[in-house]
Amino acid sequence: MSSPASSDDKLIALAKEAREKAYAPYSNYNVGCALTTEDGSVFTGANVENASYGLCICAERTAIATAVSQGHRKLQTVVVVTQSSPPAAPCGMCRQTLNEFCSEPSKLRILLVNVDGEEREFALDDLLPHGFRGEHIT
Ligand code: THU
Repeated sequence: MSSPASSDDKLIALAKEAREKAYAPYSNYNVGCALTTEDGSVFTGANVENASYGLCICAERTAIATAVSQGHRKLQTVVVVTQSSPPAAPCGMCRQTLNEFCSEPSKLRILLVNVDGEEREFALDDLLPHGFRGEHIT
């Protein structure tokens, strides 16, 4: 059985690999994401920019859309790799998208890593307290 630490290391390596595929010629800010879902599946993504800047897609939402479009809707651990120090946290739009696809925001692990190996860990509800969810719509 693999330990959480070694599975985190594997996920970090996958996020770094995904970051190599970032298409960010406008910002030169490359982001990679790797995530696991509750059924143990793994998905990755990178940011994809556009000359029409408003069309840029973040790495996190690329990875989430890949998971969801393949039928995996319950995120468990999300690794985001950037070049920032301290490692950058997901933007507001990505936080809300993460919130849509987790059982409980307090249980969704968000592991932030940079290319120099600095790491920070949060739960989604640290980053998005009192988030809006489907169950609020009555
Ligand atoms: N970016 C991400 O991929 N994730 C975030 O959470 C924040 C920003 C990307 C979007 C854009 O391609 C570049 O970083 C600069 O904003």
